[in-house]
Amino acid sequence: MKLLSELKLGNLTLKNRIIMAPLTRMRSAQPGNIPQELNATYYAQRASAGLIITEATQVSQQGQGYPGTPGIHSKEQVSGWKQVTKAVHEKGGKIFLQLWHVGRISHSSHQPDGKLPVAPSAIAAKNSGTYTADWKPTEILTPRALEVVEIKNIVKDFKMAAINAKEAGFDGVEVHMANGYLLDQFLQSGSNQRTDDYGGSIADRVRFPLEVLDAVINVWGKDKVGVRLSPYGTFNDMSDSDPKALFDHLIEELNKRGIVFIDMIEPRATTAGGDDKLNDKAPCTSDLFKNKFNGVFISAGGYTPETAEQALEQNKADAIMFGRWFISNPDLPERISKKAELNKYDRSTFYGGQEKGYTDYPCLS
Ligand code: PHB
Repeated sequence: MKLLSELKLGNLTLKNRIIMAPLTRMRSAQPGNIPQELNATYYAQRASAGLIITEATQVSQQGQGYPGTPGIHSKEQVSGWKQVTKAVHEKGGKIFLQLWHVGRISHSSHQPDGKLPVAPSAIAAKNSGTYTADWKPTEILTPRALEVVEIKNIVKDFKMAAINAKEAGFDGVEVHMANGYLLDQFLQSGSNQRTDDYGGSIADRVRFPLEVLDAVINVWGKDKVGVRLSPYGTFNDMSDSDPKALFDHLIEELNKRGIVFIDMIEPRATTAGGDDKLNDKAPCTSDLFKNKFNGVFISAGGYTPETAEQALEQNKADAIMFGRWFISNPDLPERISKKAELNKYDRSTFYGGQEKGYTDYPCLS
């Protein structure tokens, strides 16, 4: 089975091509959004993945949009993550940290000084919601447009977070440029209507995401840095006037930098955590973009073990991400190799809570 074959990722060798997707679980210790032993147990249980990408992790307090998501900007968070990386490494796993800033998908209760969330432009995401710091469902507010000096400071926040990730013992990092969060908000014309160097033409809209990427590469080296993208995704009210041209250009820029992988979410599965429905009418972005990229192409988006194997055989991807199936099957690679039945997942325990629905899914043996 191709899924079970090794994969070179820079100078790492992944033991299989079954990648654990980044998954928001909202179970960091409070106060302070600090990874804890429970999180280390959860990730270590899943160390048989070829690679784990952690849940989205805010690079600053301003970058947080949901309660309980972990950060990588305080000393306590760095020590919290150290127990996670140690536990995963002890089980022979490899783990990259996902670096995240939510931009407009936040609420003032998460913001330092209770200010408005920030974005490229003062445009609210419609039909999107989040939770306040005390877990009350809330609509998304109209954000405040960032000033250029603030943009430069966010580049520094990503850089500091990358340095912290190294200190915490990760094997690499993934920069989150997908799903309608800050960097994606800059990329796409529906959310970026700036008229300065950071908006307008495609070259201007990719500027800030690439400045962030360059800062992160500067810390880690290109071999240890991947990027998450979601072209044609509509989650968080995203839209672009010409996604093909935008992402073609961006991928060319990624090739120039030689980053090690792209993780691309198929738009058929654009609801992120929302539901299990797949949209068959959505374009196939691995068909559109895989061959443009020189590095490892990881595809995400509603795969089953069968469709994943097929995608690898048809050379639509080099590796496949599983999210929901990794939540409910800590030993997913073993189950795939034995064609064993998969545990069903319980959506009601995806977000928040403790052990239930998190570290209590059974393994085969
Ligand atoms: C979420 O927290 O709902 C979430 C986070 C990151 C994503 C998608 C969804 O990329």
